Amino acid sequence: MAAYSLPRHGPDLLSFVSHRADRSKIRFATQQKTLQANRIPVDISMNPAEFPRPDGHWEEGRAVRNNIEGLFLGISLVYLVVGMSLGIGMGVAEDFTYAHLHAHINLVGFVAHGFFGFAHRLWPGLRQSALAIPQLYLTIIGTPIFLIGIPLAQFQAQPLLAIVGSLMLLASALLFLVIFAVKERRMQSLA
Ligand code: HEM
Repeated sequence: MAAYSLPRHGPDLLSFVSHRADRSKIRFATQQKTLQANRIPVDISMNPAEFPRPDGHWEEGRAVRNNIEGLFLGISLVYLVVGMSLGIGMGVAEDFTYAHLHAHINLVGFVAHGFFGFAHRLWPGLRQSALAIPQLYLTIIGTPIFLIGIPLAQFQAQPLLAIVGSLMLLASALLFLVIFAVKERRMQSLA
């Protein structure tokens, strides 16, 4: 915290207090401008001590944390293209054997990843959680395991991958619930 020196325009308590309030207003406005300039949505649950640096980065070398919403959204759009292509393929072939796979590519791949990405975009404070990176990896690794497991379970009676993948995805959902709940509590304590 910056050292505070008494204002020059008078040592009386009233001017001291108003001078101090002015300074914190200016500091707050500067932070808001920095966040807006970097197109970072303002999230009141963020701990001011952990505000992003003016270049928009959170910590040196933490590329994954910095780009967490980009990773989620990029992966989500890849799943959307794959899921839609499979849907069109099924329609053209008039063979709906892979309808469950198609549905889960779209719902777990596109919708869930997209939801996590948008949530991180809307509330940048979420990524500060120690659970944010484990939650990301559980999702991006658990999803392909689960998706490969669906046809194996459906056609080969080998449910192992589907079980492992689905448990990883459940853990990912639980972690996100915890991350979100902690953020909400922090917001309420600041409101
Ligand atoms: C180009 C886009 C898409 C095409 C051509 C397509 C096509 C299809 C086809 C042919 C089926 C099988 C219908 C049947 O069994 O009678 C299906 C099922 C389904 N689709 Fe899509 N789809 C598309 C996008 C999506 C998206 C974006 C979602 C979800 C976000 C989705 C969710 C589902 C679900 C939940 C089912 C039911 C699966 C089941 O019965 O197991 N689809 N789709």
